[in-house]
Amino acid sequence: MGDCKDRVALVTGSSRGIGRGIAKRLASEGASVILSASRMGSHGDLQGTLEEAVAEIQAAGGQAVAEPANLLDESARSDLIARSEAHFGPVDILVNNAAMGAWGMPSQLRLKDRRKLMEVNFHAPVDLAQQVLPGMRERGQGWILNIGSDSSRQPAVPYRDTRDAAHVIVAYGSSKAALSRYTKGLADEVVEDGVFVNCLAPVSIVLTQEAAQFVGHIARANPDMTEPIEVMVEAAVELVSGRHVGQDVYSRQLLHEVGRAVRSLDGSDVLGDAFMPANLEEVVG
Ligand SMILES: NC(=O)c1ccc[n+]([C@@H]2O[C@H](COP(=O)([O-])OP(=O)(O)OC[C@H]3O[C@@H](n4cnc5c(N)ncnc54)[C@H](OP(=O)(O)O)[C@@H]3O)[C@@H](O)[C@H]2O)c1
Repeated sequence: MGDCKDRVALVTGSSRGIGRGIAKRLASEGASVILSASRMGSHGDLQGTLEEAVAEIQAAGGQAVAEPANLLDESARSDLIARSEAHFGPVDILVNNAAMGAWGMPSQLRLKDRRKLMEVNFHAPVDLAQQVLPGMRERGQGWILNIGSDSSRQPAVPYRDTRDAAHVIVAYGSSKAALSRYTKGLADEVVEDGVFVNCLAPVSIVLTQEAAQFVGHIARANPDMTEPIEVMVEAAVELVSGRHVGQDVYSRQLLHEVGRAVRSLDGSDVLGDAFMPANLEEVVG
């Protein structure tokens, strides 16, 4: 415990789902955390707000504040690092977790949807990295973690059983493939300045409310295709506290390779190892 003591972390997309889990777990490791999402308030059907996520961390004794920014909007994200640094000082850890989906057959993807997708899933992480890097390089220390997806590496064509699913996910997967490629290039450029850049994807489905809505039926029919949020979150903590460089890895693979145990999101208990099963009844808020 205490892997991130006295460090400052910004986690995008942390009002709910995986980002919220990462924020909570980083706080349990001693980091002061800035949580960001596009909205402060209610999300209609999707539970989870920035206020609620911040209050949960504070109630557990952690340091957290909310700093909203709609990453789709270039100007709204242009000062997110500066606004974040006004709270606890320089950002040591940036987790680019926020993402959106755009589903459609490859032959019919509309330009305006592709633009939005690339804006949130690729340009925003790059912009935030470019904002935070000068300070990290000057201080000789920093960690940037981009959250990727297995959909960036589709199986060889022709697809068989999962044909339709593989088709509609192609635009989202393309945006994540771009992020993965960027990660490796940036990692090599800045490692000698003490900045560690990596990309991490869940090995399968983490049943967040969003994922449950779209692929919950696949997860329930194939329990092996689900992953506990704690596994993904623990792998993220490993990458933002260790000395990994330019990794583009799956959560389970990384934890298995480094032999790291999986803890509860509040850090208090060891739950198991990289291969612990998911609770299919539990949808992550
Ligand atoms: N769940 C999975 O199985 C799975 C699998 C592969 C990869 N991933 C990746 O893991 C990450 C998290 O996924 P998740 O399932 O936890 O997502 P989620 O539950 O849908 O949460 C997405 C988060 O991103 C924020 N967000 C969305 N659009 C935004 C925007 N324009 N500006 C700022 N924030 C925005 C959302 O808040 P607001 O709505 O308030 O903006 C929310 O906090 C994503 O990068 C996703 O691609 C997830």
